[in-house]
Amino acid sequence: MRLQEFQRLYYLRIFNCLPLCYFIYFFLFLALVFGACTEESKMGEQMKEVAKETLAQQEIAHFDLEFLLGNEHGFVAEEIMVKYDHTLKHEQNYKAYRFSQVLDTLLAQGDYDWIRSADPAKILITYKCVDGYNASMTMDKALSQESYLAFTDLTSESEAWTGKMASKMPPLYLVWEEVPYDDHSLIWPYGLSKLTITPYEAAYASIMPKENLAGFKLYETHCLKCHSLSKIGGVMGPEFNYPRNILTYWKEDDIWAFINDPKSFRYSSKMPPITYLQRSEFDEIVKYLRELDSMPRDPS
Ligand code: HEC
Repeated sequence: MRLQEFQRLYYLRIFNCLPLCYFIYFFLFLALVFGACTEESKMGEQMKEVAKETLAQQEIAHFDLEFLLGNEHGFVAEEIMVKYDHTLKHEQNYKAYRFSQVLDTLLAQGDYDWIRSADPAKILITYKCVDGYNASMTMDKALSQESYLAFTDLTSESEAWTGKMASKMPPLYLVWEEVPYDDHSLIWPYGLSKLTITPYEAAYASIMPKENLAGFKLYETHCLKCHSLSKIGGVMGPEFNYPRNILTYWKEDDIWAFINDPKSFRYSSKMPPITYLQRSEFDEIVKYLRELDSMPRDPS
């Protein structure tokens, strides 16, 4: 009897425990499913990373220009006269490589059909300098007239670079033969060492508005080379969108007055007055900057 009693109690206990066991099994099951899911999503993330990387590799071409200085690449150095050097503010002679020829050679060396077959207006060339200065131009603009990669100034026979130029210009300095002193549409990067080529839209993806492109285009033409937005663009003047958008601390009318006559605000201002902009064009720029303020900031 005692044994039977014991067995009864034993079964009873197991029976009592059953709900608990089910509970534990259920948890184990949940843990397994959850584990599998997170593993799967991790794999998904990894795949996305790979896809992103491949995309990035396809869409960005990096070129190191310093290899040119070895002069074993068949480029012909030319002696050129720059009528008005926009950095030095006078006429200057250089020994230089023709930019279009260098670019052709670089693009012929790899799988760059996506650059060669694209509309040059949709390809952005960024000129990267040793001091961190990055200035960009679309390829059609960059090739709109001959530019040169200068590597020697022809002032002295013994030195490659003389005077202040020695610390500023090497390794290369981008110059244009005939650009009037008041034409600010071209760039003159010195200390130039690398080129990056990207599709225009990918380069500006994080600052491109959804619909109204007019304001963005105006900003790009007149302001971006000196005023970056979320770290995209020039660094000669202050950044206007990161971490705060300029419109949150400068009044629209003051910006308009400032750009027309910067020295009326600061006698030492380094910003050249911009008097050729219509008020309606400026209003488009403001509209764009306002839209940008409502977009996510992605300064990578
Ligand atoms: C050639 C370069 C250059 C261009 C192009 C340029 N700026 Fe500037 N800007 C500067 C520099 C440099 C400063 C720095 C302050 C100074 O020197 O007065 C400045 C300052 C400013 C300031 C004052 C900002 C502050 O908080 O101090 C405003 C506003 C401004 N720029 C607006 C514009 C707008 C809008 C455009 C385009 C329509 C523009 N700038 C184009 C170079 C430029």
